[in-house]
Amino acid sequence: MRLDILTLFPGVFPGFLGESIPRIAREKGIVEIRLHDIRDWSADRHAKVDDRPFGGGPGMVMVCQPLMDAVETVQKMAEPPGRLIFLTPEGRRFDQTLAAELAQEDRIVLVCGRYEGFDERIFELLRPERLSIGDFVLSGGEAAAMAIMDAVIRLLPGTLGSPGSAAADSFVSGILDHPHYTHPVEFRGLAVPAVLLSGNHARIDAWRREQALERTGRFRPDLLP
Ligand code: ADE
Repeated sequence: MRLDILTLFPGVFPGFLGESIPRIAREKGIVEIRLHDIRDWSADRHAKVDDRPFGGGPGMVMVCQPLMDAVETVQKMAEPPGRLIFLTPEGRRFDQTLAAELAQEDRIVLVCGRYEGFDERIFELLRPERLSIGDFVLSGGEAAAMAIMDAVIRLLPGTLGSPGSAAADSFVSGILDHPHYTHPVEFRGLAVPAVLLSGNHARIDAWRREQALERTGRFRPDLLP
């Protein structure tokens, strides 16, 4: 998969991309990630990318020209042009189902906003998808892009150490994951549930299923039918 990220703050990404799962996926050649600074496309002599909103009001709006040129040039850099996604709080809510869908794409172009938003004509001209990671407002789309990339990259075949890990995640079966335990068998007086030490895999599976349902009911009742 190829991921292109358009942002005014490319400097926030290298730490994230250089560690853990994103780093492994890049080293294995499973994902190729290209960062693009939107400001590089500004035709303004001060490299301006935002301006005051018509009609007044607080904040600044991202102007059309740099972003349009950036998106159009980046999409032409490779084939296919890629699924074009703008990160914005008014977008469709991102979830695990969408992460799995995006993991099937050959190429995704993620556009991170800043300031109060984008000039609406950018949406009219490009007709991109709009995605949000939740009902709260970030100071920019960068953290949202990282959340989405992380959720998608770990689903790409060959990325995770054990192929079963992603399938066992919370939400994949529509409910939360079961609790996990590892060594030691007892810690500060708390023992690992005996069933997990029994070696009886049918009983362990049944216990995990029951625990997953119980936790879903307790923490996320909205997920249960
Ligand atoms: N940009 C600002 N807030 C956002 C959110 N909640 N999701 C995606 N992009 C955003």
